[in-house]
Amino acid sequence: MFTSIKSKVILFYMVVLFVTLSLLGIFLYFSLSKIVYHSLDSSLLSRAKAIATLISTDRDETEFNFSDDVMWEYNSPKSNNFFQIRRFNGTTLEKAASLGNLELPFSAGEIGIAFKTILLGKKPVRLVNFPVPGERDPQNPATLNKQGIIVQCAVNMQDRLYLLKSYGIVLSSSVIFIIVISAAGGFLIAKKALTPIREISEKIDGISESNLSGRVSTESVPKELTVLASSFNRTFDRLEKAFTRQRQFAANASHELRTPLSVILSQSEILLRKERSAREYQNALSIISGAATIMSEIVQKLLALARLSTDTVELTPEAINLGELVRDSARLLRPLAEQKGVSIHMPSVAEAKIIGDRTALLELFSNLIENAIKYNVPGGKIDISFIGEAGYIVTEIRDTGIGIPAADLDKVFDRFYRAGKSHLKDRGGIGLGLSICREIVKLQGGRMQIESIEGEGTRVSVHLKADEHVG
Ligand SMILES: Nc1ncnc2c1ncn2[C@@H]1O[C@H](COP(=O)(O)OP(=O)(O)O)[C@@H](O)[C@H]1O
Ligand SMILES: [Mg+2]
Repeated sequence: MFTSIKSKVILFYMVVLFVTLSLLGIFLYFSLSKIVYHSLDSSLLSRAKAIATLISTDRDETEFNFSDDVMWEYNSPKSNNFFQIRRFNGTTLEKAASLGNLELPFSAGEIGIAFKTILLGKKPVRLVNFPVPGERDPQNPATLNKQGIIVQCAVNMQDRLYLLKSYGIVLSSSVIFIIVISAAGGFLIAKKALTPIREISEKIDGISESNLSGRVSTESVPKELTVLASSFNRTFDRLEKAFTRQRQFAANASHELRTPLSVILSQSEILLRKERSAREYQNALSIISGAATIMSEIVQKLLALARLSTDTVELTPEAINLGELVRDSARLLRPLAEQKGVSIHMPSVAEAKIIGDRTALLELFSNLIENAIKYNVPGGKIDISFIGEAGYIVTEIRDTGIGIPAADLDKVFDRFYRAGKSHLKDRGGIGLGLSICREIVKLQGGRMQIESIEGEGTRVSVHLKADEHVG
């Protein structure tokens, strides 16, 4: 029931309000009740004292000098004022006519001033016992000069109790009224405050796969929600980019395969049109074979990429001397380097031990060294070095080649992406090498970076986790 933010906020707010107002109400009620009792008690006490002054006692007799002026208040049976005068032992000496047959309650031994609320018949009354102590004869302390008496004075307090009760009812209904009004107000405020969230979510619902370009306007939402709106927008930016890349990838793959495929088709058609000479057959077949080789290479790389980008790929980690592994990769590419007149330099001994999958790492470094040769200039140089850095071994491959335009630098890892334009076809790449490299490095728990200055050269750094168990 209270799962929405709105109802939780309102509930919390109502509980706080209820507790605060109830405490305030209780405080006000008790303050008033204290005032009422205090005024009642002090007037009772003055009455009791007034009555006491009208009594004269000695050892044997007690005299009451009550005048009618005083007594009229106590004489009518309908009066709300009562008194009763007793000895300390409880014997009644005199009582007001207003009491009728009733007696003010008293238990012997109560000799201090005491206030009580009691029921007299059916009426609630406030009662005070006011003791007037006896006196001993100063000449003869063994004999009593004056006997002690108790003046009991009472007043009907039905009106006051009614006042207190009404006050209590007014207070509690005010609390309930305020709570209902504030709950309604709170509901409206919460509803208004949450409207922008609903609008954002409607906007987001409207953004679909086919229309990823929609964005939540950050200007029309309240300040508190702009963070949310812009983080949605960033997520959609990323999604849109990912979708575009994916679409681009599919388009590129088809495009790359279409060229050799159309070569194969047209060559076969030409061959089949009429009888050809053995030489013509040979020429055409070698063209077909060349195109098929390209297709096979593309398909192989695509498969490798697909395998590497799923989580199910199985690697066999082993301790590897990185220096030797890189040298092996370079050795395989020596013919290509010699053909281009590019020299490769690397330290003869490198204390670079890592744990990794040998086949994947050979693929990684031969791709990187192949790029450094392919995109180099005749007579160019390649420098390879290893540096230990905070638990990682950084392999740097620097070349003196043509470099990569700054605008293309973040795209070279994209599938089928080839930087620049003019140099591409003759260097024979298909643009999958770096994508494969990045997947391999990721699987090995490392990272790679590429920096380049167009026309000067390129530096690729590969961070791989060092094997810390071996020296
Ligand atoms: N060392 C390098 N020097 C200059 N350009 C490079 C280098 N390495 C990669 N590139 C650029 O990045 C693109 C992508 O590289 P890669 O994925 O290996 O594809 P391929 O080598 O098949 O073209 C290359 O086409 C090239 O433009
Ligand atoms: Mg390459």
